[in-house]
Amino acid sequence: MIAESEIIEVTPLRRRHLRGVLRIERAVYSQPWSHGLFVSELALRNTRTYFVARVGSKVVGYGGLMEATDEGHITTLAVDPEWTRRGIATRLLISLFESARSHGTADVTLEVRVSNLAAQACYRNFGFVPAGMRKNYYPDTKEDALIMWVHEVDTPAYGERLESLAERLGPVSQ
Ligand SMILES: CC(C)(COP(=O)(O)OP(=O)(O)OC[C@H]1O[C@@H](n2cnc3c(N)ncnc32)[C@H](O)[C@@H]1OP(=O)(O)O)[C@@H](O)C(=O)NCCC(=O)NCCS
Repeated sequence: MIAESEIIEVTPLRRRHLRGVLRIERAVYSQPWSHGLFVSELALRNTRTYFVARVGSKVVGYGGLMEATDEGHITTLAVDPEWTRRGIATRLLISLFESARSHGTADVTLEVRVSNLAAQACYRNFGFVPAGMRKNYYPDTKEDALIMWVHEVDTPAYGERLESLAERLGPVSQ
């Protein structure tokens, strides 16, 4: 039997979750988004989708997608450092891609620090491949960004990919 403390719930991000989101944001990013930036993103309901992952009432991760025409852009993805390697980012990305598919979005892109091999490995599981660089993209360190894309996420084949990623996820324990 799975204990309640091991159940991860992924639901739409709401303002009431932002305290927990900002705690993680400040822990993992050198230039964290502000409360106001999250609020303005959440207000853009037609083009933004944000999900939060929770264990009980504790926020353990969050991720976002911006959609324009038939393209999507992962705006942010982060997991509480105490809760990594338990499939939380994978769960969040599955939800974001299910949402993209339901809106008919076919292609999705993102930027990731060239040094962030953990995130790149996570994105590769979803079919993202490197497609270019943005030089000096990150103001804090002037680090380059790797641009990654995944195409045809609206197809049945991509749906099967999401299902197989979901099947590999087991219960989560701390
Ligand atoms: C990158 C990040 C989102 C991954 O979250 P997570 O919940 O640990 O990811 P998952 O458990 O779903 O892991 C999915 C896959 O990512 C890869 N991965 C995750 N962390 C990794 C690490 N430290 N080293 C190598 N690969 C890693 C693995 O392929 C992993 O699959 P596996 O555990 O079956 O091997 C998380 O480490 C994080 O928040 N980092 C700081 C913020 C950040 O870098 N965000 C992305 C900005 S573009």
